[in-house]
Amino acid sequence: MSVLVLAIGRGLMMGNNNNNIHMFVVKIVACFLVMGFAYRLYFSTFFQIIPPQIAVIQQPPPPAANFTLSGHPHTATISSPSCDIFTGEWVRDPTGPPYTNSSCHTIEHHQNCMKNGRPDSGYIYWRWRPRDCSLPRFDPKTFLHYMRNKSMAFIGDSISRNHVQSLLCILSQVERPVEVYHDKEYRSKRWFFDSYKFSLSVIWSPFLTEAKIFEDNDGHASGAVRLHLDEPDPEWVNEFDTFDYVEIAAGKWFLKTAVYYENNTIVGCHNCKIEDVTELRFDYAYRRALQTTLNFITKSEHKVYTLFQTTTPDHFENGEWNTGGYCNRTVPFEEGETELRDIDTIMRDVELEEFKKAVGDTNGSTLKLFDTTRLALLRPDGHPGPYRAFHPFEGKDSTANVQNDCLHWCLPGPIDSWNDLLIHILLRA
Ligand SMILES: *[C@@H]1O[C@H](CO)[C@@H](O)[C@H](O)[C@H]1NC(C)=O
Ligand SMILES: *[C@@H]1O[C@H](CO)[C@@H](O)[C@H](O)[C@H]1NC(C)=O
Ligand SMILES: *[C@@H]1O[C@H](CO)[C@@H](O)[C@H](O)[C@H]1NC(C)=O
Ligand SMILES: *[C@@H]1O[C@H](CO)[C@@H](O)[C@H](O)[C@H]1NC(C)=O
Ligand SMILES: *[C@@H]1O[C@H](CO)[C@@H](O)[C@H](O)[C@H]1NC(C)=O
Ligand SMILES: *[C@@H]1O[C@H](CO)[C@@H](O)[C@H](O)[C@H]1NC(C)=O
Repeated sequence: MSVLVLAIGRGLMMGNNNNNIHMFVVKIVACFLVMGFAYRLYFSTFFQIIPPQIAVIQQPPPPAANFTLSGHPHTATISSPSCDIFTGEWVRDPTGPPYTNSSCHTIEHHQNCMKNGRPDSGYIYWRWRPRDCSLPRFDPKTFLHYMRNKSMAFIGDSISRNHVQSLLCILSQVERPVEVYHDKEYRSKRWFFDSYKFSLSVIWSPFLTEAKIFEDNDGHASGAVRLHLDEPDPEWVNEFDTFDYVEIAAGKWFLKTAVYYENNTIVGCHNCKIEDVTELRFDYAYRRALQTTLNFITKSEHKVYTLFQTTTPDHFENGEWNTGGYCNRTVPFEEGETELRDIDTIMRDVELEEFKKAVGDTNGSTLKLFDTTRLALLRPDGHPGPYRAFHPFEGKDSTANVQNDCLHWCLPGPIDSWNDLLIHILLRA
């Protein structure tokens, strides 16, 4: 299965962080006004000259400004207002990761950076520290104990799969699970921890709603995606009643060329250039898909505990995924050193708005924001880069062109800290 490699544009800023709701609303409105221009500019020009399966946006260098995230939605979901675990910093931690490429046997080769020859290892000696409280390291025994007789599913794209792999590596230090299911392409899987009767699933559903994707394993598309924005994806819906916990993460696939359906009728498309079909922006589709998904979950008779994850920014520098962009930094960014790019800002705003709507009316289900955008943004050093492949420079001179992955995370790597947050949220609720 190919890696989802996407290059995300830079540019628009939302203004400074501000608790004031009024300002927040003003900023959203302003943002959407500006976006109208931005999209006409970028999307019409640049989507034509690239392979249709991957969305790339090239833009001028970013304005000098500090990192900002708009809104404070997670305060709505966290019981103790004094501690927002998603606000904090990465601190050095000599303890190192809870597993290695030798003690975890399930690391997929595109993320197995050590084995693939990544020369530096500083990036594994960091831990996320919330500003206002302590966050203990993930304890696999505590987690498995808590999950006894329970079932958890990670639903979404390759970022979801990346997280499952991390969790699996940590848990397998306590008990090696049995893989009890995989689909034909090994994209959806289920493992069972026998001593704890705990089921862990990953479900490949990059759009969350029903989609017909015409793409081979290397990501080469032979046609536009057909996306039913009002039908949740049967891939996860059919199993939904068996889950106690779900984590949902999607977004990047909505940048792809797609024809959008509602009520089995074409309502528009993104970048399809079909006569008489209205061009719609990707965030229209993302919003509708999230509404469908969250609506299904909160209206279901079956009550689950849902973690809804925010967008994961990438770190391509000096180019994009296909124009020599790379990510060779070896330490995290500090506060103020970087900012969220426009595509991620747009996705995040859609996520926050739809989350807010859904969380107000969950009818007995639990819905929590899993707001890892900022954690991810600050870690340009945690990606495989060229080490998505085994010894990429072997037999080549150092100027050879190699494909970089600056979106997914090395294992072990920063994404292991997502589990510290995960267990903290579960145990506190
Ligand atoms: C960015 O942050 C630095 C300190 O971290 C501050 O001195 C500077 O004024 C900030 N710039 C903007 C544009 O907010
Ligand atoms: C783990 O990575 C090291 C390099 O850091 C390598 O020498 C070793 O062969 C790898 N082990 C496995 C089991 O892949
Ligand atoms: C787990 O489920 C089994 C069968 O459904 C039940 O017998 C057992 O008591 C459960 N254990 C716990 C700790 O809930
Ligand atoms: C959906 O389409 C059917 C006909 O295919 C129509 O009867 C129905 O009113 C439509 N529903 C909505 C909500 O548009
Ligand atoms: C709320 O959940 C109950 C089942 O617990 C269900 O009967 C009811 O229809 C749901 N209400 C709404 C508005 O979905
Ligand atoms: C990253 O690569 C660029 C271009 O090859 C080089 O100029 C820079 O020094 C490198 N940075 C690090 C931290 O290796």
